[in-house]
Amino acid sequence: MEINEYQYPFLRACRRQETPYTPIWLMRQAGRYMKEYRVLRRRYSFLEMCRNPELAAQVTLQPIEKFKLDAAIIFSDILIPLEPMGVKFEFAKGEGPVFHHPLRERTEVEKLRNIEPEEDVPYLMRAIQIVKKELGGKIPLIGFCGAPFTLASYIIEGGHSKNYILTKSLMYQDRPTWDILMKKISEVLIRYLKAQIRSGVQALQMFDSWAGCLSPPDYEEYVLPYSKKVIEGVDKKVPLIHFATSSSTLLKLMRRAGGDVIGVDWRIPIREAWEHIGYDVAIQGNLDPVILFSPIRLIKREVKRILDSVEGRPGHIFNLGHGILPNTPVDHVAALVDMVHEYSSSTHKPNRPPNPQTFDDFSFG
Ligand code: CP3
Repeated sequence: MEINEYQYPFLRACRRQETPYTPIWLMRQAGRYMKEYRVLRRRYSFLEMCRNPELAAQVTLQPIEKFKLDAAIIFSDILIPLEPMGVKFEFAKGEGPVFHHPLRERTEVEKLRNIEPEEDVPYLMRAIQIVKKELGGKIPLIGFCGAPFTLASYIIEGGHSKNYILTKSLMYQDRPTWDILMKKISEVLIRYLKAQIRSGVQALQMFDSWAGCLSPPDYEEYVLPYSKKVIEGVDKKVPLIHFATSSSTLLKLMRRAGGDVIGVDWRIPIREAWEHIGYDVAIQGNLDPVILFSPIRLIKREVKRILDSVEGRPGHIFNLGHGILPNTPVDHVAALVDMVHEYSSSTHKPNRPPNPQTFDDFSFG
């Protein structure tokens, strides 16, 4: 039986409610650093695993079986909704995603289709349902999408980019095409996230992984309205984490675009970030993923530094500042999860009765 959603520390923290300890999950928690993942990966390509609901569910659960994480995130990729829009890509060995026909012309952008998630990506919806069943209400499940800017950058550049010259050039020099593209992506993402909610996810994260390449005025003018549109387009009852990297100068604008939680990377002290965006929003972060390659005592020092700096304030979700890296020692990941729970349990006030006011504010129906 599923427990009342108010009892999950992760969902409570998204709402800035008191928790007995700081909840933790890790971006890319399912992946190559785990032996169980690599074993499956020898038999299937990454996209085959995303498109097979049983395999995607199995991979989602691998880190949950190993570590005491406070949330699962569905195994998929931010690029998955692009194919039904009409943008084909593949993962070339060792290279990341490759798009053979990047879009740069208005006529091509105009041809992009909106999607019917249940028909176009049925495997994702099915994977969510399987994971929900397997979890049996133990911890909540997070769904996700890429943000409009980050997805636009892949569509235009044709893959990962260093300077985003093509993306920014289109943005600066052909505003009408940029606006059509961003509008189309936003419409797709609203449907995509809503369908994930219908299938059972209990929280969402929007990854604007590459927005940090933008100046604040450019973010405000060309990107913010579309991220805002997506966030406003989904059900407010499901908390949304709005994440970007290298975003220290964009945090206030990201906050304006929306999200119940703002995800920050390690390039800014978390306390400074939280002060800056305001304590009326929750925060997620922000251990440098590279710290996990260090001896346990150094990891401990960093964890303590982060937890001490937020002073047990309700609304902190512990995470890395970006995805966990391949080759990260698995025993260090286990130690991290345990030390966040243990250390924060000693600083949080245990079993404080829930605040009825906050309960009324957010009815999960
Ligand atoms: O967090 C999770 O465990 C859920 C799964 C997840 C993946 N990708 C699995 C994945 C999530 C949430 C993502 C999001 C994603 N995908 C982002 C945003 C997050 C971020 O890192 O900023 C981006 C930019 C992508 C696009 C993408 N997918 C790239 C650039 C790559 C290649 C780079 C790399 O790490 O190899 C991927 C592949 C990918 N996505 C892998 C995994 C587990 C590795 C695939 C493999 O097994 O080879």
